Amino acid sequence: MKLTTSALLLLILLTFSCQPKRHIDFAPTDLKEAKVIPEPLEITASGSGFALDKYTEISVVAEDEAFEDVADYLSDKIKDRTGVDLKVTSRSYTQLSIQQASGFDNDEAYVLIIKEDSLILKAGTAAGAFRGIQTIRQLIPEEAITTLADYPIWVIPTGTITDEPQFAFRSTMLDVARHFFSVKDVKKYLDILAYYKYNTFHIHLTDDQGWRIEIKSWPKLTEVGSTTGVGGGPGGFYTQEDYQEIVAYAAERHITVIPEVDMPGHTNSASLAYPFLNGNGKEIELVTSMAVGYSTFDTRKDTVYAFIDDVIREISAITSGPYFHIGGDESHVTEKDDYVYFVERVEKIVKKYGKTMIGWDEVATANLEGPAVAQWWNDKENAQAGIDQGMKLILSPANKAYLDMKYDDNSEFGLRWAGLIPVDTAYIWNPETLFPMEHVLGVEAPLWGETIRTISELEYLAFPRVIGYAELGWSTQENRNWEDYKKRLAHHRLFLDANGVNYYKSPVIEMEY
Ligand code: ACM
Repeated sequence: MKLTTSALLLLILLTFSCQPKRHIDFAPTDLKEAKVIPEPLEITASGSGFALDKYTEISVVAEDEAFEDVADYLSDKIKDRTGVDLKVTSRSYTQLSIQQASGFDNDEAYVLIIKEDSLILKAGTAAGAFRGIQTIRQLIPEEAITTLADYPIWVIPTGTITDEPQFAFRSTMLDVARHFFSVKDVKKYLDILAYYKYNTFHIHLTDDQGWRIEIKSWPKLTEVGSTTGVGGGPGGFYTQEDYQEIVAYAAERHITVIPEVDMPGHTNSASLAYPFLNGNGKEIELVTSMAVGYSTFDTRKDTVYAFIDDVIREISAITSGPYFHIGGDESHVTEKDDYVYFVERVEKIVKKYGKTMIGWDEVATANLEGPAVAQWWNDKENAQAGIDQGMKLILSPANKAYLDMKYDDNSEFGLRWAGLIPVDTAYIWNPETLFPMEHVLGVEAPLWGETIRTISELEYLAFPRVIGYAELGWSTQENRNWEDYKKRLAHHRLFLDANGVNYYKSPVIEMEY
């Protein structure tokens, strides 16, 4: 028997109001009070509840078969959370229905229509449906009702959510070069990023201390270049199969992977493996320090470009997304002319392999053919030069968006060269107002890895700040408010705890530790 009649729900809700107050709200009836992050575009509440229980079935009504994967993902996650195994059926209508519909301008848009007897998610694409199911997951209360039946019921507040992102690009970067992180670690991180509707994952694969991706035509890159990291740790690298596993895992979560090979600076590990690449005139040695700015490729040798061609060809072939990031930052020992020549030549190689080039903001000092993207981290003039030549911008201002900055003086991990970034500072800024919106692709929060060696240390720096950057990328400025956000964020500790995610116990958030 399905317990979804209005009368029964009313009874259930009345029953709650007689129960002693608990520290977790387990019977929400006001959809506007739901603690969803990122805050949706529009919420209309209708003040009742939809009961999810073991009899709920999920149907998919879609031409695109990828919607079925979305339904399976939702069913898996509900099972993880509640223990209830919801059947995904081929029946055309069930209580919980995921439907492909027309009329959406944005690929990630969705609408959720929640009534007492049905919960319908509509989206134009599987990506939109995937974003929508993250909202459904967040609407399921922490605790079930068990008072009126011999099985648990989770009450979801009724109403309508109409949602879409304000930026098409919402990303975080992980540096696996300074310290290596395993495929398992990266997958765990991707799982959590998906919950907050991230759609891009930038992976910084190479730097002075380590080269972390197998290149079959240049095997010494990993044989010689991957053996250690900052502080002399064990190092490591991804085989191409490992990397493909990450790309596929991300794609299942509608997340695009951007590979970065940082050059012409930040290349000590490559030159250690193949000394002909080196252009700084010095003997190359293995480095484990955090120093930057001393390495460069020899930008005037054709053999260097033959090498780069192979690297970009091999990585592009196993990357499904449209971008290739060439780094380009802090090439302090590359002559200015040589730097510009290098970036302009490498842009053509990236294009040859069908990708759009991204570089840190310094690349905008070159004359690029485009389309190309500049990632603003440091120099606003560079970013403006990018706009002036038609480049799009990714916004990663170091003093707001760098996840590797310490939170405060008590932070165990992190650096402080761009300033301390407490959880409120990370959240309270407006990416919409820095440059005209039409030039901005979106927001990325980079996590550099000098001070972190384990997934728990990675999570300490990422969480909870990375959750705030998700909201900066998705929600409009009118829908963002620190006082409201911090209450929603406090609630999300339950999700982080349940998923074994470490996070910084920030004094600015009342997390009920
Ligand atoms: C950077 O932080 N060097 C892009």
